[in-house]
Amino acid sequence: MAAKIIGTGSYLPQKVLTNFDLEKIVDTTHDWIVSRSGIIERHIAAEDEMASDLAVQASRRALQAAGISVDEIDLIIVATTTPDQIFPSTACILQDKLGIKQGAAFDVQAVCSGFIYALNTAELFIRSGQARTALVVGTDVLSRLLDWTDRGTCVLFGDGAGAVVLQHSETPGILSSKLHADGSQRNMLAALGNIRNGALQGNPFITMDGKAVFKFAVKVLSEVVEEVLAENNMQGADIDWLVPHQANIRIMEATAKKLGLSMDKVVVTVAHHGNTSAASIPLALDTAVRDGRIQAGQNVLLEAVGGGFTWGAVLLRW
Ligand code: UT7
Repeated sequence: MAAKIIGTGSYLPQKVLTNFDLEKIVDTTHDWIVSRSGIIERHIAAEDEMASDLAVQASRRALQAAGISVDEIDLIIVATTTPDQIFPSTACILQDKLGIKQGAAFDVQAVCSGFIYALNTAELFIRSGQARTALVVGTDVLSRLLDWTDRGTCVLFGDGAGAVVLQHSETPGILSSKLHADGSQRNMLAALGNIRNGALQGNPFITMDGKAVFKFAVKVLSEVVEEVLAENNMQGADIDWLVPHQANIRIMEATAKKLGLSMDKVVVTVAHHGNTSAASIPLALDTAVRDGRIQAGQNVLLEAVGGGFTWGAVLLRW
């Protein structure tokens, strides 16, 4: 039994925050942000808009693209680091908002690698026969975890959601998936706060050693993409589209270079939404599917790295 993506969808909140807007908030410039990250603007969720609300919009679009009704969904996995509340899970809230009554629903927390972790988990459920049609969602409102006085982080992140419908299939589909983690690197990128006895303990904002993250990301992404390619006796030249986690254009360029891929084979959407964490890969994937770049029969490679540290890759035949 194989698992195949049969529909994609995405959603960005209405409010746009440009680099020029940020120039008025912190000591930064549009040129610095573009040259260091490739980001031009990001979207910010409305006061009353939660991760599940973004997820609902992206999911409806994915279901519509797949041409299936909610009655067929028997598994929902939501990757998020910014759940609506402590519990129940955002996946259960999404299930209710979509009017789905059947199947399992749970969240996965692997920060920016969350979608890759969720997709691999859903694939295993389908391959084992425990589920037939899964809704796999990445949704994050990281703007809520930003310290708007820290120019080293607040210029990089934004809010959004992306979703795919993954269904059992006689033909692949997902060819290989690899996940990794190294918890000893957990303080390089973190939001350390927690709730105790009704009060916030510690720093709830994102802290990051940007330079260390950059170096680590380039190294592990190159390793994991080689790992999935080798498993399929493929090389960089066999890849039609690389759809990387949209954190920073320079990390994407470095990974493409190591694979020997030119940038016109890389789907890049970071300019218009910044780093949306778990949402970034399904957002980029949906863009390239809807604009016709990704075509049936092509080899598509997804990869991500994020807090934990976590990283992974999924190789697909579209
Ligand atoms: O999913 C993973 C998420 N995280 C990432 O992908 C982040 C990975 N890291 C990066 O993308 C880069 O390290 C950054 C974009 C965060 C920073 O770029 P950099 O080229 O590593 O810059 P830097 O940290 O070495 O800083 C260079 C200078 C410093 O000034 P001095 O010390 O040279 O005078 C910073 O203080 O740039 C300064 N700087 C800024 N200037 C204007 C730092 N942030 C800003 C800013 N605007 N927003």
